[in-house]
Amino acid sequence: MKNYVLTPGPVPVPEFVMLEMAKPIIHHRTEEFEEIFYKATQGLKKVFMTEEEVLILASSGTGAMDAAICNTLSKGDTALVVNGGKFGERWLKICKAYGVNTIEIKVEWGKAVSPKVIEDALKENKSIKAILVQASETSTGVEHPIEDIAKLTKSRDDIILIVDGITAVGAFPVEFDKWGIDILIGGSQKAFMMPPGLAFIVLSKKAWDFNDKSDLPKFYLDLSQAHKNSLKKTSPWTPAVTLVIGLNAVLEYFEKLGLEKLFERHSILSEATTKGFEAMGLENFAKGCTSTALSVIKSPEGIDAGLIIKGLKKKYGMIVAGGQDQAKGKIFRITHMGYVDKADIISVIAGVEGILTELKYKFEPGSGVAKATQILDKL
Ligand SMILES: Cc1ncc(COP(=O)(O)O)c(C=O)c1O
Repeated sequence: MKNYVLTPGPVPVPEFVMLEMAKPIIHHRTEEFEEIFYKATQGLKKVFMTEEEVLILASSGTGAMDAAICNTLSKGDTALVVNGGKFGERWLKICKAYGVNTIEIKVEWGKAVSPKVIEDALKENKSIKAILVQASETSTGVEHPIEDIAKLTKSRDDIILIVDGITAVGAFPVEFDKWGIDILIGGSQKAFMMPPGLAFIVLSKKAWDFNDKSDLPKFYLDLSQAHKNSLKKTSPWTPAVTLVIGLNAVLEYFEKLGLEKLFERHSILSEATTKGFEAMGLENFAKGCTSTALSVIKSPEGIDAGLIIKGLKKKYGMIVAGGQDQAKGKIFRITHMGYVDKADIISVIAGVEGILTELKYKFEPGSGVAKATQILDKL
């Protein structure tokens, strides 16, 4: 059976990227690789919408989240953490590991944080040094209002805004320089349509000032080392050579397509998925604040989402992600990032129609596919 990986990371990788990465390995301490590395950092600047140096780390996304904390904060500092899902929780865990105090803004899963709540928290707690938030919370499919949150920190030099953009950067606009974000993180296995293994991180001048004063321990993820080396077209440790080569193929493709078109693709795939499932009576979990990087769909009342997920895998070879913790059994998650196209969306909706018919859910067969197909004509 043919397998379809439709999870919001890892995502399907296009053949042209795989073929680039299949070429013989080259050594990293060579002019040839330095040019490749440099080209990648230049291409990343465009996707991160910044003039600052975007650093390439050989780690998964969590490595860059860890680096963001240990390179800017100090023991006993206080961070304001937006916790609206599994990845918001991860910020709390990283802070705890480093002895950084946290003030938690708990957000109901499936809802976006209100910038007003953040504003009030900042007024109440003058000691807050950083705000930690996701641009796209992958466990719930929510997009948090980063531009508005940045308005609260942009003109202050005593606080930085750290944004996990792991399922945002490359999927929709996150304007690092213009909005005044201080740290932004991306990951290779998401909108960069690559295998896992690379994380990207960029720091504002303000964040580098914080770095000067930070006393938390760091070695492998010491960003000042990565920065110094990046300016010399290299990295302090052995880089993930093959992945960087693949990254350049992706960045060239992004350049050819244009960022606007790239973002529009995610947007249309997202709209078609949401409206397709809606036509069958299935709601989007993040209604009104949907990240276009993925769709998180609620299972119909009385039907465990696990049955849909298992059914898709067994019957059609389609792999979608489930919910975690409180959302377990209630939702299923489908990527719009990576090498996914109209046919993937039509297929997964048709697959869910097939499973739900077996489970005796009452809906008009074909309604989801018909609606999605109509919207996908825009692509
Ligand atoms: C929003 C978000 N943050 C952080 C992570 C963690 O990244 P990684 O699994 O690459 O360490 C993920 C991965 O799914 C994510 O989607």
